[in-house]
Amino acid sequence: MPLKIAIFASGSGSNAENIVKFFSTNSHFEFPLIISNKADAFVHERAEKLQIPSKTFSKDDFSSGEVILNLLKQHNIDVIVLAGFLLKIPTAFIEAFPNKIVNIHPALLPKFGGKGMYGAHVHQAVVDARETESGITIHYISGNYDEGDIIFQAQCPVLPSDTAETVADKVHALEYEHFPKVIERLWGEL
Ligand code: GRF
Repeated sequence: MPLKIAIFASGSGSNAENIVKFFSTNSHFEFPLIISNKADAFVHERAEKLQIPSKTFSKDDFSSGEVILNLLKQHNIDVIVLAGFLLKIPTAFIEAFPNKIVNIHPALLPKFGGKGMYGAHVHQAVVDARETESGITIHYISGNYDEGDIIFQAQCPVLPSDTAETVADKVHALEYEHFPKVIERLWGEL
């Protein structure tokens, strides 16, 4: 039985695209749905090119859970991958998908996590704190932002000459390299 993954994304969706392409020749992984909370997010254009249906739901739909959980059930979704998804995941989702929801955070948690720590804000905070390294954290979802058991981390150096933009580029490169492989390691065929 193939494993069916729903990707949730709020923005550009470059990780979503990278993951789908990584598994394009692996019939064990299927991507029946991309879900967003933003109708104008670029991820929808990527989804169209990848021929994956994408849908947008309101914040209320996410917090009540019912409509989206029914849709996930209709599509027999096994796993949810959060790839740049900005809303908090309500308990109903965590109960319906125990240890089956993973998130990627663009820094080395527990540093630079929590509410408001997303995208450029994270990289700017890293630069402002004069950190000498940053990286990525892939973790299971618990009830709080950026908490939950850590599955994988990878590091990159942060130099005094780096800006939030250059740190973002380094972190994206780590995301593209590792996120699909971690998903494969967690749920691939033995
Ligand atoms: C990534 O850096 C991800 O770690 C963060 O948001 C960014 C999303 O980028 N949570 P994209 O939408 O995948 O291009």
